[in-house]
Amino acid sequence: MSDFENILGNVKTWVREVGNLQKKNFRKENLYIETKSTEVDLVTEVDKLSEDYFLKAIQDKYPSHSILSEESGVHQNKDSNYLWIIDPLDGTTNYAQGLPVFAVSVALQYKKKTVLGVVYLPMLDLLFEAVVGQGASLNGKRIKVAAKSRLKECLLSTGFPYDQSENPDNNTNYFAFFVPRSRGMRRIGSAAYDLANVAAGIIDGYWELNLSPWDVAAGILLVEEAGGKVALLEKKRGISLIAGNENIVGQIFQGMSSVDQQGIS
Ligand code: IPD
Ligand code: CA
Ligand code: CA
Repeated sequence: MSDFENILGNVKTWVREVGNLQKKNFRKENLYIETKSTEVDLVTEVDKLSEDYFLKAIQDKYPSHSILSEESGVHQNKDSNYLWIIDPLDGTTNYAQGLPVFAVSVALQYKKKTVLGVVYLPMLDLLFEAVVGQGASLNGKRIKVAAKSRLKECLLSTGFPYDQSENPDNNTNYFAFFVPRSRGMRRIGSAAYDLANVAAGIIDGYWELNLSPWDVAAGILLVEEAGGKVALLEKKRGISLIAGNENIVGQIFQGMSSVDQQGIS
């Protein structure tokens, strides 16, 4: 068993414990909610409790490692080759509204390469996991990306940035383009779960603009280990990406490019 597989055992315990905490507080009366970058960018007391759990667990078990976590930023250890990238609760809007679709996302990088990724859906008890070079699985069963090649047969998902009302580069143009050209579109509300769904062949293609490392670090490894492709759109803001099988990623890229060039809607 590799070192990373050993570490994976701990991560699986942690995400389940954090998931239990999130379930216990789900639809809690007077859940404390604050806003962050915009009035629709939320953080709840449960995001923070979840993050505190991870910080403590990692610092106890791997005190020399660095951590990048959504709510508290970087906890750097300059000499470490290890970096944990944590989204303690991905899908905060859903959580705050009482919609049971949210995830815990944990990735570990070694020398800047993601070597392990776990995405856990507490309410659905879905645990997606991958170790680099070892494939990806969902609740212990091997997964792979969908093999479809016709966009019209594809179920696609996407999301919209939190500055959707202030910045016109808010993905509504691409969304409008793909609605009539696909089987259907979903806005699930958790980028980590979107990517995990692509890895499992449940969603055929996904794109999103202006994400952050904690939204995608684990999910990207899941897609790649499930035989899929993730194209990073370097020219767009934040982390912008397309995921799916290679063919579908190419078709989504072409569609987005035609919108960019001609403003097709
Ligand atoms: C958000 C979710 C959402 C995506 C946003 C993310 P959060 O993460 O992943 O699906 O559209 O861009 O910021 O705020 O719920 O952790
Ligand atoms: Ca997130
Ligand atoms: Ca989050």
